Amino acid sequence: MRWNTAGLREARRISYELACNWKLVFQNYSECYHCPVIHPQLERLSPSDSGRNDFSEGPVLGGYSDLRPGTGGLTTTGSTARPLLGSVDGLDARRSYYYSVFPSLLLSLHPDLVMIHTIRPIAPDRTQVDCVFLFDAETMERPEFDPSDAVEFWDLTNRQDWHVNELTHSGITSRAYEPGPYAHAEGLLHAFDRHYLTTMA
Ligand SMILES: [Fe+2]
Repeated sequence: MRWNTAGLREARRISYELACNWKLVFQNYSECYHCPVIHPQLERLSPSDSGRNDFSEGPVLGGYSDLRPGTGGLTTTGSTARPLLGSVDGLDARRSYYYSVFPSLLLSLHPDLVMIHTIRPIAPDRTQVDCVFLFDAETMERPEFDPSDAVEFWDLTNRQDWHVNELTHSGITSRAYEPGPYAHAEGLLHAFDRHYLTTMA
């Protein structure tokens, strides 16, 4: 694999407990039209409308987004001193891939790190999410290695998502809630729901 995932090591792990159903974590990860509003710091570095889906049916869903010209990485500084992972080059050097793997994993492949979220339902309205940051093992041995620029960036982004997931959970559990049609940018949410229903049947 281009990102040499077998040669990666865990540098940091952050656990979150969310007051929402686990499926909302998947659905939130599966669209980015919320990004300009919810994640201004991410939108500045990677425009949400640069994304394309390459898996749109079945247990694995997702696609990629491009870095904005002049941006060096999805970090608090907008750049990174870390080398590219494995044999990443060309377009992949300026792209992040985001895949949800039913029913318990979110896989984010970045040029210089891989981030995984594992999702564990605790109750219908409680979900544990562990976010793990993986870097090249040799890069981690360098004395100057410091993952905090990426960890802080994604911890902020995660918390922004968890907040809206909890608001969404409150909304859909309201007696006043009625489901509406999917939006045009919610193709992966529809695919997730179809896969979930097929699995449950
Ligand atoms: Fe988000």
